[in-house]
Amino acid sequence: MEVESVADLVARYEQACGSSIPQAAYDFIAGGSGEEISQQEAVGAWRNFRLRPHVLRNVEDVDTSTTALGTPLRAPVIAAPIAYHSVAHSDGEIETARGVSAAGSLMIVPTRASTPLADIARALGGPWWFQVYFVRDRELTRRIVADAVELGATALVLTGDTPYVGQKRRGQLPPIAPEHYLVNFGKYMQPDAEFMYATSQDPTVILDAVQWLRDVSGLPVIVKGLLRGDDAAACVEAGAAGVIVSNHGGRQLDRAVPAVSALAEVVAAVGDRGEVFVDGGVRSGIDVLIALSLGARAVMLGRPVLWALGAEGAPGVERVLRGLRDELSHAMALAGVNRTANIDRSLVR
Ligand SMILES: Cc1cc2nc3c(=O)[nH]c(=O)nc-3n(C[C@H](O)[C@H](O)[C@H](O)COP(=O)(O)O)c2cc1C
Repeated sequence: MEVESVADLVARYEQACGSSIPQAAYDFIAGGSGEEISQQEAVGAWRNFRLRPHVLRNVEDVDTSTTALGTPLRAPVIAAPIAYHSVAHSDGEIETARGVSAAGSLMIVPTRASTPLADIARALGGPWWFQVYFVRDRELTRRIVADAVELGATALVLTGDTPYVGQKRRGQLPPIAPEHYLVNFGKYMQPDAEFMYATSQDPTVILDAVQWLRDVSGLPVIVKGLLRGDDAAACVEAGAAGVIVSNHGGRQLDRAVPAVSALAEVVAAVGDRGEVFVDGGVRSGIDVLIALSLGARAVMLGRPVLWALGAEGAPGVERVLRGLRDELSHAMALAGVNRTANIDRSLVR
């Protein structure tokens, strides 16, 4: 029997989205900033690493489970924050949440969600994290964080790489109906011109935002979107519980280095002061094994989740997440490690 790899499954879902969702929605998901150089090299960057497997280890019982900031995970794979899931599916984030929950994974719910946070939280039915964009109106930022806390978010992800939204030659604007646009801010303000300014990105945000978020939420905060050891060290010194190494799927500064190539430097800089995560171009269980070998706690998946959502809804999302777990389990067995805690730097070259 032939087994379809997750990479092939995701490619098939992406192709299906090419005809099942509007072109503008496809472009919004697929697109990268600038000439799309960072976007295009992300998948390939993982493939430059080579493994040094162990042999003759008992690997009958492989366990892919781990924890992320204390949250138990069946596998070290998390759904990255993505704005406006309604571009891919009429139920938007709620449908994604069903798939993530069925797979026993963790979802990072975005500030720019296109469905109400309460409905997403209900569909998840378990722990979830909330991604924070600081908008120009600080009080609106505080309110949406307070809503997330009240609805059961257990950690905050502060995206640090988006003082302005990166310029893209395709898919710059999400093609969604007005009723979905910033629905979670809309309950506090009318969607007029003032609202558009108040909810735009705040480019003045600096490191003290970490402590501010901790103070207003009482939750651990991790910073997403950095690519340097010195920035990572500064984040944990400012009170972050960890960082996500990421170039935002090639959607912010074009020609930023691939996240995986910055991972070892960030892991070394953070040391035992926080947990390190990585995203961008992860498409196979072997990518996950490499990420863990380089010191990541877990990986995050962006576009694969939305392609699955657009092509098959929640069952598709579940299939991608479960597929990565199965591939990781198989790769761990062939690398001679049966626990995620036993994956170390010596496995990768
Ligand atoms: C359509 C789209 C929207 C995104 N929106 C957000 C967002 O609102 N906040 C954020 O922190 N990252 C956002 N990201 C970046 C993802 O969280 C993640 O870093 C990236 O998609 C990982 O790369 P991958 O798509 O190759 O898996 C978005 C990515 C895509 C593709």
